[in-house]
Amino acid sequence: MKIPFVDLHAQYLGIKGEIDAAIADVIARSAFVRGAHVEAFEQAWAAALGMKFCVSCANGTDALYVTMRGLKIKPGDEVITTAHSWIATTETITQAGGKVVFCDTDPVTFNLDPRLIESRITSRTVGIIPVHLYGQPADMDAVMAIALKHKLWVIEDCAQAHLARYKGRLVGTFGNAATFSFYPGKNLGAYGDAGCIVTNDADLADWTGTFARHGGKGDHVMEGINSRLDGLQAAVLNVKLPHLAGWTEGRRRVAARYDKLLSGVGDVVTPKTAPDRDHVYHLYVIRTEKRDGLKKHLTDAGVATVLNYPKALPYYPAYAYLGHKPADFPVAYANQSRILSLPIYPEITEDMQDYVAEQIRTFFNGNGVPS
Ligand SMILES: Cc1ncc(COP(=O)(O)O)c(C=O)c1O
Repeated sequence: MKIPFVDLHAQYLGIKGEIDAAIADVIARSAFVRGAHVEAFEQAWAAALGMKFCVSCANGTDALYVTMRGLKIKPGDEVITTAHSWIATTETITQAGGKVVFCDTDPVTFNLDPRLIESRITSRTVGIIPVHLYGQPADMDAVMAIALKHKLWVIEDCAQAHLARYKGRLVGTFGNAATFSFYPGKNLGAYGDAGCIVTNDADLADWTGTFARHGGKGDHVMEGINSRLDGLQAAVLNVKLPHLAGWTEGRRRVAARYDKLLSGVGDVVTPKTAPDRDHVYHLYVIRTEKRDGLKKHLTDAGVATVLNYPKALPYYPAYAYLGHKPADFPVAYANQSRILSLPIYPEITEDMQDYVAEQIRTFFNGNGVPS
């Protein structure tokens, strides 16, 4: 059996009529860049989160960069963030003129460990970027308390956590601003690159919206960048948004089933959700000491898996200049050789999941580890 890591075509088939009509409408109106579909999506996404403003961008990476510029980051300003994320979280700190300061992760949730944040704060620290990694909210009460105490801004990187909740409250509503990615494989995904900033700060929304569109249309009040959402992406997102809650339930169902199927299999540690957090399972990431062997076995058996991510950020060549050692971030360092993301999407069938689990059991039996 062949099990893809994600199956966007299966999702398309479920909403084909709506998507095709929405795309045809964009073409009929030549509403290719910004326009009515984009405005409708900005309003709908802000409303879905209960936020005042949504500023759409070309992608989630730009959303981070533009937000930091909007918060007036200055050369040498330090920003604390997790050692375990996609590089967009940190490359944008540097691009905006700041200095990346890594912090290790919680041993259970893969998220920024708030117990370690204060030890990373210096007189140059200006902000914290928690990432709700894999779809599980970071410990926002703790992050916000530290930010308040030290007068730091907070940008929530919500690229993987659409509609996830912390103590019943949606992620993206805690910090000064939050950024989302709508990359095709995300829980809410466009048919190309797309992203946005959400905030309740009118000045920040105004500045970032202006900066992202060449510093203003007609009257350039500043030099900006070109980071516009296009109409086709917005039209696709408008069709998909009403389905998101149902798809999220589907992901939770699949995750709960994996939890059961993989319980007690070899040394597999299934993802744990901390109390009071509603995980949206953008990714379902197991841990095992036999990760490389298991990945190969699953690949040979037709099951696609991914490493999110092959290394913790401080250990990529891009950050060699910081000179970090394994002991600096022991949790993130250990996880980089243990993590394995299994296929998860609402359309995966029980038969497909059974097959994935059976292959994992077979691998551990063959390796002499009791399952
Ligand atoms: C945690 C995180 N932050 C930021 C981004 C950047 O989003 P985009 O790919 O839309 O630029 C991603 C996308 O993969 C992500 O996973």
